Amino acid sequence: MEYICTNMQGENIHPIFEKTLQRADKEKLMNQRAKVIWFTGLSGSGKSTIAIALEKALFEKGFITQLLDGDNVRAGINNNLGFSEEDRQENIRRIAEVAKLFVQAGVICFCSFVSPTKAIRQKARNIIGESDFIEIFVNTPLAICEQRDVKGLYKKARAGEIKDFTGIHQPFEAPENPALEIKTEGRNVEETVQEIIHFLLPKIQYSHE
Ligand code: ADX
Repeated sequence: MEYICTNMQGENIHPIFEKTLQRADKEKLMNQRAKVIWFTGLSGSGKSTIAIALEKALFEKGFITQLLDGDNVRAGINNNLGFSEEDRQENIRRIAEVAKLFVQAGVICFCSFVSPTKAIRQKARNIIGESDFIEIFVNTPLAICEQRDVKGLYKKARAGEIKDFTGIHQPFEAPENPALEIKTEGRNVEETVQEIIHFLLPKIQYSHE
């Protein structure tokens, strides 16, 4: 982009050829490749627990990341949305747009959302762009999520106190072709984090090509 410098009389002093800062400049400074790591899975499957541990582990390796999950997004920017099909669509649309902004700033963005249908995840993929979207399916069977019931929501859903609950009243469509599938049953968080790091590092490490 060309900026023209003028003096008080509006005369050209000298043209400055200045380049607007690009994502590539920011990635270079941060020595990383920005991506969106999209975690999908049932409520209580372990998505956010894994994403939080993963973020810490990557931070220790020098990566700059941002985590978006129900706790920070549904309490803030999306606090006017519920769990109807329409609201979930809007929830994911806004999240994907925000994640895209982080990627433009060179930041690796973890998104941890149930995102229960193929159509909803496709929407996120379309907004973010195929080459920046890495889908990780946290595959924990419903019976295990319900048994863990970390937030007590399955119990409430079974009792009819919560409606439209994913897995109980509404389906969860498992991704057919996730970039990575993580099974959590019988494994600890550290093991799953190591598996994800091994998979992600080549994709987020800066290469000077
Ligand atoms: S999404 O379907 O729109 O992607 P999101 O990940 O933001 O959902 O929020 C899911 C979290 O909200 C669950 O982990 C659970 O804690 C809580 N929640 C409350 N009501 C529901 C519901 N009806 N269905 C699913 N999750 C719910």
